Amino acid sequence: MKDILLIGATGQLGGSLLAGAAADRIHAPNREVLDITDAESVLRCIDIYQPRIIINTAAFHNVPQCEEQADQAMKVNCVAVYRLARLCAERNIRLVTFSTDYVFDGGQRTPYVETDMPAPLQIYGISRLAGEHAALAAAPRHAYVVRTCGLYGEQGAVSKGGNFVDKRVADARQTDKLDMSSDQTVIPTYTADLAEAVIALINCEGAEPGVYHLVNQGECTWAEFTAAIYEACGLATVVNPVDRGGLSGGMRRPSYSVIANTRAAALGIELPHWRDALKRYLSRKGFRTTTD
Ligand SMILES: NC(=O)c1ccc[n+]([C@@H]2O[C@H](COP(=O)([O-])OP(=O)(O)OC[C@H]3O[C@@H](n4cnc5c(N)ncnc54)[C@H](OP(=O)(O)O)[C@@H]3O)[C@@H](O)[C@H]2O)c1
Repeated sequence: MKDILLIGATGQLGGSLLAGAAADRIHAPNREVLDITDAESVLRCIDIYQPRIIINTAAFHNVPQCEEQADQAMKVNCVAVYRLARLCAERNIRLVTFSTDYVFDGGQRTPYVETDMPAPLQIYGISRLAGEHAALAAAPRHAYVVRTCGLYGEQGAVSKGGNFVDKRVADARQTDKLDMSSDQTVIPTYTADLAEAVIALINCEGAEPGVYHLVNQGECTWAEFTAAIYEACGLATVVNPVDRGGLSGGMRRPSYSVIANTRAAALGIELPHWRDALKRYLSRKGFRTTTD
């Protein structure tokens, strides 16, 4: 039975959800059919598909563009989520919607748990935090807000011109030495693992609504992650770690935004380590040349 309506099917996570174990449960209209900022199209799709669950992966998440287009950021990341959540509460539909490690300011040096106090540094993080509150206020018994970090998946993020891993592999074909930031510690997450965890969460009878962190395990800087990509692919390009003082693309970013999956782990939902995830991704893409 198709009981899930997926918003954002053409994205990285959307692609992994459609390629995963629950693919036969999913209706996946594209943005022309369902635009999350167009209330009529949302309502029409809910009427047509009659979902029991909506998974909303749509977002405006280009960080510098959000700063320039704050109204649009609030419209997509907060107002549209609020309207969607209200509809879900009215119609008894469970809603899974996504947020980000960027709700934190990075002042901590240990992984953030779900109950830690957010303090976003830019419009992007502010709009996502507002969206979290909007979803939970409008649908306290139906909304699951999943914070995640540093996604890469087979489908690539169209809004960001491809994913981080593919871009670094492409860089290695152009240069033998690459500057990469060492001042942001993150947890890169493979969308295939995230998709599996999301489905486990919605299948889990004991999962209460609220905020969940879902990321691969471990932590690294972008420079360390890039070095791991090159090592696994047998690429000779040298990574030069650069401290950009918390600024990238002109934006303030959290220097430490590692999040811990404490609530999911308590339900028995575990994701693999980022090194394991990266190797599986590179193998599936045909990039990986080294074995261990
Ligand atoms: N990527 C990351 O590193 C990262 C980190 C933390 C959190 N997240 C969050 O995780 C979620 C999934 O990320 P992702 O990387 O899979 O995103 P993505 O690859 O950029 O995909 C976003 C999807 O949303 C769709 N979309 C955008 N605006 C829409 C609208 N107004 N109405 C309907 N659909 C719309 C896009 O459709 P089109 O193809 O038509 O544009 C695309 O299918 C997002 O909430 C994101 O913010 C991502």
